[in-house]
Amino acid sequence: MGVEIRVEGLTKSFGRQVIWQDVSLTLPAGEISVMLGPSGTGKSVFLKTLVGLLKPDRGSITIEGRDLTRLKEADLYEVRRLFGVLFQDGALFGSMNLYDNIAFPLREHTRKTERAIKDIVLDKMDMVGLIGSESKLPGEVSGGMRKRAGLARALVLDPEIILFDEPDSGLDPVRTAYLNQLIVDLNAAIEATFLIVTHDINTARTVPDNIGLLYHRHLAMFGPREMLLSSEEPVVRQFLNAQRQGPIGMAEEKDADELAQEEASGQELPALPPIPIQLSPSDGATRATAREPGAWCREHGITPPPGSFQSSSTATTATATPGRDDPPAIAGTTVDGTPVDGTELAAAGRCDG
Ligand SMILES: Nc1ncnc2c1ncn2[C@@H]1O[C@H](COP(=O)(O)OP(=O)(O)O)[C@@H](O)[C@H]1O
Ligand SMILES: [Mg+2]
Repeated sequence: MGVEIRVEGLTKSFGRQVIWQDVSLTLPAGEISVMLGPSGTGKSVFLKTLVGLLKPDRGSITIEGRDLTRLKEADLYEVRRLFGVLFQDGALFGSMNLYDNIAFPLREHTRKTERAIKDIVLDKMDMVGLIGSESKLPGEVSGGMRKRAGLARALVLDPEIILFDEPDSGLDPVRTAYLNQLIVDLNAAIEATFLIVTHDINTARTVPDNIGLLYHRHLAMFGPREMLLSSEEPVVRQFLNAQRQGPIGMAEEKDADELAQEEASGQELPALPPIPIQLSPSDGATRATAREPGAWCREHGITPPPGSFQSSSTATTATATPGRDDPPAIAGTTVDGTPVDGTELAAAGRCDG
């Protein structure tokens, strides 16, 4: 049921450009982890390094006792079969219909008969809700369907680890909500280890067991979702709560002048919004690795922000003091992205108090 991936001291540069250095983290077996970070911080490079498509300068990536960075090409090929990857754009062959795209890894890497392949392809297409679209070309379907086809293709070799590169990019909030639900349902069904790379804060807040934040060529923090969502660490706090105040600027980090100005202006950081309840499987099942809401906070003596861990209709609505800095993706929508009307918002505000 999924394997653990241990990354230690990983550093990657291209020529003289250091992308990130000294990244250490453990992706726990069977859990869903999210890697967040502003665009250009090297999230895709991190995924490609994990699967051995890029070689790190230093550090190790250990899976089942083997360090991937030291494997010979032939052994690497074998380890790579543990991975399923959903690339950013789905990476489908434009001239092949969805069925053939999804069947491709089976035809390339196995000796299965077309009959056996058909069973697997249709099973995976069913899992991602694509039955009936077998003969469509990638160009004939929506972006969301292309992503689901890419996901079905990532599943056909029964991977132990699935890497998602911005599954939510280019999707509207409703389709993102569906895809996030699909990811959680899939994790419950196949219990593989998931790593989702995204810059979507709402996905990071609601989907994973663990969150990491890549920022300024370092891994700023990696740990259980509740740890990051209750963190006072400026970068983590700013990014996860979509706040303007803090070390992250429009382009990259703010310079010392800007930060000094901000401090001198005496503006206080807005309060942390409530920690939403984690998305659970749609059939009501419990994921093997799911923790009880608030468990991490209790174990560590942390008081979560007021209003945390309420049911989905109220959990992510108003903070105690709604204000101009409230992130729009959080206030006014439930965890699954459904808009909440004013009455519910008001009610939630009262409950919070
Ligand atoms: N193959 C490559 N050769 C040289 N530079 C690269 C290569 N791939 C990515 N980069 C650089 O690495 C940085 C991080 O890129 P990327 O991982 O795509 O960012 P993200 O996915 O976080 O938006 C960018 O500056 C990009 O130009
Ligand atoms: Mg990327």
